[in-house]
Amino acid sequence: MPDRPLLRPFTSPSWSQQEPTWRDAKPALIEAALKRATALPSGNWFVVGASRDVVRGKAFGRTVAGREVVLWRGPGDELRAGPGSCPHLGAPLRDGEVAGGRLVCRWHGLALGGERFGGWSPFPAHDDGVLVWVRLDDVGGEEPLPEPVLPARPAGGALDAVATLVGRCEPEDVIANRLDPWHGAWFHPYSFANLRVLETPTAERDRFLVEVTFRVVGRLGVPVTAAFTCPEPRTVVMHIVAGEGEGSVVETHATPLDDGRTAVVEATIAQSDRRGFGLVRRVAPAVRPVMRWAAARLWRDDLAYAERRYALRSKGLFPG
Ligand code: FES
Ligand SMILES: [Fe+2]
Repeated sequence: MPDRPLLRPFTSPSWSQQEPTWRDAKPALIEAALKRATALPSGNWFVVGASRDVVRGKAFGRTVAGREVVLWRGPGDELRAGPGSCPHLGAPLRDGEVAGGRLVCRWHGLALGGERFGGWSPFPAHDDGVLVWVRLDDVGGEEPLPEPVLPARPAGGALDAVATLVGRCEPEDVIANRLDPWHGAWFHPYSFANLRVLETPTAERDRFLVEVTFRVVGRLGVPVTAAFTCPEPRTVVMHIVAGEGEGSVVETHATPLDDGRTAVVEATIAQSDRRGFGLVRRVAPAVRPVMRWAAARLWRDDLAYAERRYALRSKGLFPG
């Protein structure tokens, strides 16, 4: 069967001639969706980074919600995590070496594994194949869950790319930005055209359904229908439900770091039934940076939106 064309010609009004969306983008509607999302259980799980960030034989450190966290691979490549400060005299464990699956402190050689040592006890950790998570029960303060709440993802054969950006805001500002699909064609006209919100969320069916054309070059684009949902309080997921790449997902995870900074960890898990896609997967290491680059401007602008929301909120100046 011949493949259908990837790019479709489309027409769209000029930027200022588009239909304004502010009447539909009701602050109360966005706030209500945000409230429902932030009330969901997370089981105290936080995304730390990409699975491929944590490689065998190397420690990986991050600050999550003000806690230093260190991750590494155990003897069977299983994910291990723990506090990032050595229980002996406080050396940064992120600078440690991994030998035989144990994390060895650089200062005096204390080797830590998956078991408690004095006041140091490992954190539950989870590798979902794309992202790595830690469970911080004293930070989350919720009922712990054995595993993080993950959205539906494409089955095997997908191509994933993970990008991390840091901004001065809180996780809820990142989530609020994603729960405003109406800004798409106005704020990111270089990427989106002809955006229409087909469904807004209700308590019964908590999702946005959006029709949009991804602008590729000039008047050629890829029309899709996408659903936005929140599986847990710090994640928004876009599922492509119709059009090119149906089944692909973009997961936006917001992880609090420290001092009012939040990491946006975005995982794109692409799927396609196109014949060339198998080939694309084989050249994945080359394609991934392009996937990341293509989205960089979008992320910068969305982060500016989230930072602005935070700045206004923290001065009590947020409208509504
Ligand atoms: S500070 Fe880590 S072994 Fe002494
Ligand atoms: Fe955006």
